[in-house]
Amino acid sequence: MAGSDQKLTAKLVLPDSKEATLPVVVGTEDEHAIDIRNLRQETGFITLDNGYMNTGSTASAITYLDGEQGILRYRGYPIEELAEKSNFVETSYLLIKGELPTPAERESFGRMLTRHSLIHEDMHQFFAGYPPTSHPMAVLSAMVTSLSAYYPDSMDRNSDVSIHITRLLSKVRTIAAFAYKKSIGQPLMYPKNSLRYCANFLHMMFAVPSEDYNVNPILEKALNQLLILHADHEQNCSTSTVRMIGSSGANLYAAIAGGILALWGPLHGGANQAVIEMLEEIRTSGGDGKQFIDDVKNKRGNRRLMGFGHRVYKNYDPRAKILKKMCDEVLQHLGVRDPLLDIAKQMEEIALKDDYFVSKKLYPNVDFYSGIIYRAMGIPTNMFTVMFALGRLPGWIAHWKEMVEDPQTKIGRPRQIYTGPRQRKYVPIDSRG
Ligand code: CMC
Repeated sequence: MAGSDQKLTAKLVLPDSKEATLPVVVGTEDEHAIDIRNLRQETGFITLDNGYMNTGSTASAITYLDGEQGILRYRGYPIEELAEKSNFVETSYLLIKGELPTPAERESFGRMLTRHSLIHEDMHQFFAGYPPTSHPMAVLSAMVTSLSAYYPDSMDRNSDVSIHITRLLSKVRTIAAFAYKKSIGQPLMYPKNSLRYCANFLHMMFAVPSEDYNVNPILEKALNQLLILHADHEQNCSTSTVRMIGSSGANLYAAIAGGILALWGPLHGGANQAVIEMLEEIRTSGGDGKQFIDDVKNKRGNRRLMGFGHRVYKNYDPRAKILKKMCDEVLQHLGVRDPLLDIAKQMEEIALKDDYFVSKKLYPNVDFYSGIIYRAMGIPTNMFTVMFALGRLPGWIAHWKEMVEDPQTKIGRPRQIYTGPRQRKYVPIDSRG
């Protein structure tokens, strides 16, 4: 964990020439931060950092990310190794508990996830109440909030959190699949205890009661890898939302539901859906993407090249590198030929040579190729962000847990610089206008 380095301090000279000496905090990967916790108390000044471009909201031991070098590690383990050698359940354990499980721990964690996969039968009626056109992210967030109504002990801050963590990890998968089944008018498929985590999800998504369904091992492996690649990404918009909500003492289900909603936006997890919609639009217009890129560069219609750019990565996103390779492999194994993949590759090639993207350090991110893999797996476009949420769940939980266990945690409450009118007198309605 990071700590104040007694030898290092930073000096801030304020407009009245007063000086503030601020401690410097150093992380295990030699990242440096200026600790401003006492700044306002000592000087009356606050810092202003729109979009938190330079603000560390916490010290965290979960994920290390170096955007310049394109490095991503969960609890010290490189993402490339985890995607190749681990599975999603094991990676979830690692993120939440801090260490890779022993064989016995892995077995018992997996067993618990299997046992808690059913949702209360009454909750089935909720699905029936939504119109078939509902976006599954709306259904998912509402259902996760509803779980707190079925497990009211989650509101007791002294209750056993491990059971709520298990329930969430297991039931979110069931809820996601049920939301899909409902949207296509098929019967809900109950989870099957004989199946592993990802295979069980595929069963609930694609099986029907009238036929046998055998899980394709290629799909199961691809899903494990996709979920691992999405499992954590330190203090992004949705994770910070989870921490912010949790800092008020709200229960785990409430905090995760907030994270799901923050993820939904097209600048965050919603980008995977937006990428496919963009590629579809280019395909149906008969273009090769050049006109689209020209529109983006000239900011016509406020367009962005979706799936490109990242607040932290100023080099190729390591997750996108793995996904691009995976995309070719999975489509080849499944015998799928997707014209959107050709368009995507062509757009990447154009963008990576174009000064607009090069000078702004815009590279493909995790969302650029993931949608094409999900499409090949038979997952519909409006479910892509739900898939991101399934993957990100252990990361959100790990951050929530780290936050509630940290004695230094305080309720999240930023300050502001007020720019509205100064005090004025109330004007009665008949004296206005
Ligand atoms: N296409 C075109 N221009 C872009 C793009 C893009 N995808 N991304 C950034 N820019 C430009 C932007 O217009 C701005 O230009 P200028 O300085 O001329 O105004 C400059 O690059 C800096 O952009 P920014 O919006 O200030 O950067 P940010 O760090 O606030 O935004 C981002 C990061 C991911 C929101 C942004 O790159 C973006 O909108 N990308 C497209 C959406 C997307 O793919 N999101 C998924 C992110 S990865 C999944 C996740 O973890 O959420």
